[in-house]
Amino acid sequence: MNIWGTGSALPALSVDNERLTKFLDTSDEWIRSRTGICERRILGADETLLGLGAQAGARALEDAGVLPADVDLLICATLQGDTITPSLASLLQAQMGLACPAFDLNAACSGFPYALNAADAFIASGKARAVLVVAAEGLSRLANWTDRSTCVLFGDGAGAVLCGPGEALKALKLTSAGAKQILYADAEPGGSPFGTKARAFAGIHMEGQEVYRFAVSSCLRDLEAVIGQAGLTPDDIDCFVLHQANKRIVEAVRARLRQPEDKFPTNIERRGNTSSASIPILLDELNRAGRFKAGDRLALAAFGAGLTTGACVIEWTKA
Ligand code: ACO
Repeated sequence: MNIWGTGSALPALSVDNERLTKFLDTSDEWIRSRTGICERRILGADETLLGLGAQAGARALEDAGVLPADVDLLICATLQGDTITPSLASLLQAQMGLACPAFDLNAACSGFPYALNAADAFIASGKARAVLVVAAEGLSRLANWTDRSTCVLFGDGAGAVLCGPGEALKALKLTSAGAKQILYADAEPGGSPFGTKARAFAGIHMEGQEVYRFAVSSCLRDLEAVIGQAGLTPDDIDCFVLHQANKRIVEAVRARLRQPEDKFPTNIERRGNTSSASIPILLDELNRAGRFKAGDRLALAAFGAGLTTGACVIEWTKA
């Protein structure tokens, strides 16, 4: 599998830390020093994940020079689309004018490497040639806006990559260790006449310190595994693109791998944590800034609810 093109799209509204202090007992200093976040984009009343996802997807197709009619499959990573059903992928397929199967995939913040793995499997088996992966997340709609320890972290956005046949994917590892206690969002929206009670949605619950420890240790474990599997060492990697959950997590991983700061770009300062969309948004920003050259080796790593993790080593093949 090769990456042919990238795209991203963000809501128009930027919410800085100062604005959060109007309704939360928090401060710009606390949020910046504990997370690195200064501002995040938040979906407005007239915006949808469908709109963001379609824009990100169209930009990836344009970057690749591929027409919508030539896409064979659309995979959408999302925790929750605009509707429970139809899937966001199906709505995106129609909105973007694609004539192909489409499905959602939920692996929380690890959704992007999970979706890349699925894309690779379809391409390697010959069942698809051009696979569009879109990751679109509206965490502002899932946050508990009275819980200062979680809601300040999140932002909304969409990222996309168009994948095609090739040898660029050198190694990929996914894990899931089902455990609900430290990171979850419960939902029973409707109830039934047979005993299930409808429950009000309480938003995302996270035990921050536990998740922090899990994030650093799993990222290191997975990166070492995929880099080794690819026959490389961390020194051979040109750019590490990590899930943007907390700048301190990225910094801890970088320090333990003994790598220079410029190999670990971040955008969490301006984007916050956009769950599965964070890696493809950052990839697109780096691609458009001319950060990559053909032959560069990228290492990606994500972690999130499940608990799930995913990492891969991929060569940049675009000119
Ligand atoms: N403003 C001010 N004070 C706050 C805030 C806030 N926004 N949030 C928490 N505090 C307070 C706490 O109440 C606590 O006060 P106390 O000492 O009086 O009890 C104090 O700050 C310290 O709280 P901690 O939870 O110990 O703070 P910590 O340094 O661990 O930072 C954080 C919290 C940022 C959540 C960190 O633990 C973290 O980043 N965890 C990992 C998050 C993550 O990776 N999530 C990814 C998966 S989730 C997803 O991607 C959807």
